Amino acid sequence: METLAINGGEKAVKKPFPNRFAMDAKEKNAVMRLFDEAIAAGTNIGYNGPEEEALCKEFAEKMGGGYADGVNGGTNSVYVSLRAINPEPFSEVIVGAVTDPGGMMPILMCNCIPVVADVTPGTYNVSPEEIERLITPLTAAIIIAHIAGEPADIKKIMAVADKHNIPVIEDCAQSHFATVDGQPVGTFGRFGAFSTMYGKHFNTGGQGGIVFTKSEEDYYKVRGVADRGKPFGLPAGSTNRIAAINCNLDELGASIGREQLKKVESFGAARRVVAEKLGKLLPPSVELPKLVDGAESVVWFLRLTFNGEGMSCTKDEFANACAAEGLPINPAYRGALPSLMTWFVERRAFGTKGFPWTSPEYKGSNNRDFEIPNAKAVMDICFNLHLNESWTDEDIKQAADAFNKVDKAFRK
Ligand SMILES: Cc1ncc(COP(=O)(O)O)c(C=O)c1O
Repeated sequence: METLAINGGEKAVKKPFPNRFAMDAKEKNAVMRLFDEAIAAGTNIGYNGPEEEALCKEFAEKMGGGYADGVNGGTNSVYVSLRAINPEPFSEVIVGAVTDPGGMMPILMCNCIPVVADVTPGTYNVSPEEIERLITPLTAAIIIAHIAGEPADIKKIMAVADKHNIPVIEDCAQSHFATVDGQPVGTFGRFGAFSTMYGKHFNTGGQGGIVFTKSEEDYYKVRGVADRGKPFGLPAGSTNRIAAINCNLDELGASIGREQLKKVESFGAARRVVAEKLGKLLPPSVELPKLVDGAESVVWFLRLTFNGEGMSCTKDEFANACAAEGLPINPAYRGALPSLMTWFVERRAFGTKGFPWTSPEYKGSNNRDFEIPNAKAVMDICFNLHLNESWTDEDIKQAADAFNKVDKAFRK
C-alpha cells in the first residue's frame, strides 16, 4: 500500500489544479473603455451611471424579470435588503446556523436580534421546520443562505414564511443562478442578495454585490437605503427618505460585472459537470451531496460527505490526509458557524454593554443559547472540495486517485 503524504509518502497530486481563468481581455477592455472615455472627456469614473444601470437590467433579465441594484459587497446586499424591509429595532431575524458572518452581521447593524436556526441534518442549509419552531411575534424577517451553491429547501421555507406573513431575504452569495425546478434562487423571497466579490461565480472586481427584487417599490427602497436614503422613486422635490449609509457599487465594478454576467451560467454548468464526473470515480468513503427535490447546484465548492463505514479514521483524519495529498480541501467548514464566534458569544456589536441584545427594549431572552446540534454534527461528516470550471478530465482523475489512495489506506 502507498504511504500517505501525511505520513511522509509522495503526494498523489503531482500537477497543480488549474486556476479559474474566469477573466479575459473582455473585462480588461470594459474597464479600459471607461478610462479612455473619462480621460478624453476630462471627467472621472463615477457611480450610479450607465454601466450599473445596464448591469442591473441584464442581471434582472437573467433572473426572469424584475429589478436589481448594484452594491459594494455581499454583506451589504443583505444589509440593504433588511434595511428596505425596515424592521423595528429589537425585533428578531431568523438566520441559518451555517453561513458567512457577513450573512448574519447585517441583522445587528439594523439593531435587530439574530435568531439562529439549525440546519437540515446532514446538510449546510437551514431547516424549514427549525425556522417555523423559532417564529415568534417578534420575528421581522428570515434570511436564507443557499450554501455551497446548493439551493436550500426554499419552497418549503416560503410556505412557512408566507403562512406567518414574514418577508424572506435569500442570501445567494454562494449560489448565483442555482435553481429549484428551473427557477433561480433569489427569486423566491422578497429579496435576493448576492455577493460579487472576486471569489464568487461572477464578480464585479474585488468587492461587490447585487440586490434583486420583483417589486418596483422595493427596488426604490433598496436604492435609497444603499445611498444615504436618497429619495429614488419619490416625487420630485422629495428629500432623503431615511438615515442610511453609502453602499454604492462603482462603474468600474459594474463594467467588469457585465462581462462576467455573460459567463456565469456556463461557470455553474461546467462546475456541475466536474462534480458529476468526479462523483463517478470517488471511493465509497466519499459521497456527493443529496440536493432537495428539483434543485440544481452551481457548486461554489463541492460539499462532500464522509461515509465512515468500514473505515478506521474520522472525517477530519480523512480530510486532513486528502489535503496532505494536495487536494484543495477545507477539512471542516467550522468558520461558517458565526453564532459560535467571539463576537456573537460575547454579544459584541455596539459599545461594550451587549447592545442591542441587552437593551430593555428587546422583549426576547438576551442569554438565549441557540442549540444547533445538526450544524455541529454536519461539520463532523462533511468537508469541502474547492474545484472550479477549469478542471479537465485529467484534473478530475488526479483528484479521484488521491481520494482513492486515502480510502485504501484507512479501509479496515
Ligand atoms: C452566505 C454568505 N453571505 C454573505 C457573504 C458576504 O459577502 P461579501 O464577502 O461579498 O461581503 C458571504 C461571503 O462569502 C457568504 O458566503
